[in-house]
Amino acid sequence: MQIPSAIITLVIGMVLVIGGFWLSQSLNLLPVQASINAPIYDELFNVLFIIGAILFIGIVGLLVFSLIRFRRRSGQVGDGVAIEGNLPLEIFWTAVPAVVVLFVGLYSYDIYDRMGGMVPLAHDHSMGGQDERVWGGISSGSIDSEALTGVLPIEVTAMQFAFLFHYPEGDIIAGELHVPAGRPVSLKLEAKDVIHAFWVPEFRLKQDIIPGQPTQLSFTATRPGRYPIVCAELCGPYHGGMRSTVVVDEPNEWENWFSSNAKPEATTEA
Ligand code: CUA
Repeated sequence: MQIPSAIITLVIGMVLVIGGFWLSQSLNLLPVQASINAPIYDELFNVLFIIGAILFIGIVGLLVFSLIRFRRRSGQVGDGVAIEGNLPLEIFWTAVPAVVVLFVGLYSYDIYDRMGGMVPLAHDHSMGGQDERVWGGISSGSIDSEALTGVLPIEVTAMQFAFLFHYPEGDIIAGELHVPAGRPVSLKLEAKDVIHAFWVPEFRLKQDIIPGQPTQLSFTATRPGRYPIVCAELCGPYHGGMRSTVVVDEPNEWENWFSSNAKPEATTEA
């Protein structure tokens, strides 16, 4: 009895999709989620991984099948049959990747937008908008009321081969980044020498730090703990050692850290 090829194709397709989902669910490749960005980013990673797994299983499966099924048998000499052109097949294998790539492009844009990625772009040249509100509040001097609520502004200085963190409210300078869980943080990043990059894998965030052109990064940490800050831009011979730590505290622990490190003149000025 001959099984119709449409049925075989359908079964293979179902096996591929189920295999792709199974592979993406059974492998746990990412570190813990420690910011509100992390679950959004992981959603994109999961979808891309499922698509990649389906293609991988399909292509490698077909390759292995062909290697065995169409191998040279003993006694066979000469070339195989010359086959030229198959229009329906060519349309199919052009259309499928086109649809997949279009979907991945639109979906990535949507994820980037949901992570707030499009907001700084709109204010890139004016440095106005959100930036103005966060950084304008410091110079006006209303420190006491704003120090423990609202967006927390922190200045990050990167240099060969260290990060320095300055809290304008309280005038704290620290080698480790301390942030409270659940409160939005706005980093203003500046490089002293060459290009560096601020990367916290557990936050799923990375931002270049460029000399002469401050950049910005906003996030809200969600999970108390200590996470590595990694420089992710080759910046010199000790680039590999350019690391720091972000300490995410419960809000009351962070307030203790803040008030015990804040300079008295800075907090009483207001
Ligand atoms: Cu700084 Cu690599």
